[in-house]
Amino acid sequence: METKYLYINTIGCQMNVYDSEQIARGLKSLQYEMTPFLEKADLIIVNTCAIREKAEQKVFSFLGRLAGLKKKRPDLIIGVGGCVAQQEGAKILERAPYLDLVFGTNAIDRLPGAIQAILSKKCRIVDIEMSDQIKELDFVTNEVDKGEVSRFVTIMQGCDNYCTYCVVPYVRGRETSRDPKNIINEIHRLVESGVREVTLLGQNVNSYGMKEGLCTFPELLRRINDIDGLLRIRFTTSHPKDLSENLIHAFKDLYKLCHHIHLPIQSGSNRILKRMNRKYTREIYLEKVDKLRNTCPDIAITSDIIVGFPGETKTDFQETLDLIKTVKFDGLFAFKYSDRPNASAARFVGKILKNEKKQRLQQVLDLQDQFTTRKNKTLKDSIQLVLVEGFSKKQNQINKQNISQDVQWTGRTSTNKIVNFYNSDDTDSCTKNVMGRLVNVRILQTFSHSLWGETNGKEPTSFDLRGEKSYVA
Ligand code: 5AD
Ligand code: SF4
Repeated sequence: METKYLYINTIGCQMNVYDSEQIARGLKSLQYEMTPFLEKADLIIVNTCAIREKAEQKVFSFLGRLAGLKKKRPDLIIGVGGCVAQQEGAKILERAPYLDLVFGTNAIDRLPGAIQAILSKKCRIVDIEMSDQIKELDFVTNEVDKGEVSRFVTIMQGCDNYCTYCVVPYVRGRETSRDPKNIINEIHRLVESGVREVTLLGQNVNSYGMKEGLCTFPELLRRINDIDGLLRIRFTTSHPKDLSENLIHAFKDLYKLCHHIHLPIQSGSNRILKRMNRKYTREIYLEKVDKLRNTCPDIAITSDIIVGFPGETKTDFQETLDLIKTVKFDGLFAFKYSDRPNASAARFVGKILKNEKKQRLQQVLDLQDQFTTRKNKTLKDSIQLVLVEGFSKKQNQINKQNISQDVQWTGRTSTNKIVNFYNSDDTDSCTKNVMGRLVNVRILQTFSHSLWGETNGKEPTSFDLRGEKSYVA
């Protein structure tokens, strides 16, 4: 079979990144190779996100660009997958008549079959059938690209929480956890192929296994921590209502578990949290933040905030700003509320004007920026243990600072801060290549969203790995 080219545009969260990886792997069986060039593609897949209105607009503006391409090359196959596909189904074919395929969040394993049918029968296909069963076939990851240090591993899908603003339960279905045995096997295979870090994915990882009576999430983490050759474990996302004492203690007990938690608060007002159906109060949230910091003092805490939720008064918004000042997050993702189909808040009264939402968003971002920059500044001259993920792309930032070095690397600290650095070790070529290794980096400069430093390529000692002794260069 002759090689054909596949272009995937992934819009949205890590779930979609993971799904796109699965799509690419599945289509290899039909001889499709990935290309970064849209014009070269024989098959274009748009993996879509419906979480906010803005993401959905991005999908349709990209699809608009494809109409001209299809006109020039009628053989080109264009497919739309992911959450917008699940939500809109056949309506997308009406809106974009040049599309060949719409496939939902549960149809990834059926994609190669659908493409074959389109090729042979010249038909159009809509496959948005949902299932509450996890299909292990979806997770077969036989291949790791050379040099891949960090990989996502889905441990559960769907969500049962029904936050009133959220579309996820409608487009990703009911919460279902994978069998721990399959997760562990998958990670073993990844590690054998050179992966050193895994990020466990789920909409609410803290409730992993509860419904099915599998092991708990902290227990799963403990088992993954025992996997030889794996250096680091991350996870996302955590719902504050399900953050247990056991999970908090895991940050102290499991030395591979990175010191970072993404814990979306959404609002600092109890009235709004109730309307959002979040099932915790700001007091409970702050108590959990204290416990996390008492147990693991250097833990980085990041969060999500929605501004302009229906009925959010100036007082409610002020409470959100106060909460941000109290917690001093390491990083924050803030969003303007948008109505989502099916989500019940779309029917709530008290919608906030567009301009007001814009102003509130800016206030949150400006406030948080001070904390992010200040936190990063405190790391200047410190030694950070960094897992090296590849070559740095931030060459121009460094050029501006007039630091000229040949090879620049990039990686992250345990607390999830991006570090770009150079390796000053020029004694032998073997230690110069630090890819996939944990190295100690001295932080020379700090920026608002990254750090810059230098390493001598030295492997950290086992004490460093366990965080029991800080390394002095
Ligand atoms: N409007 C704005 N932001 C939203 N999010 C989810 N749904 C909406 C919505 N309708 C945000 C939440 C969530 C993040 C992934 O996206 O903050 O944590
Ligand atoms: Fe959406 Fe709430 Fe589920 Fe998160 S926990 S995916 S915000 S419904």
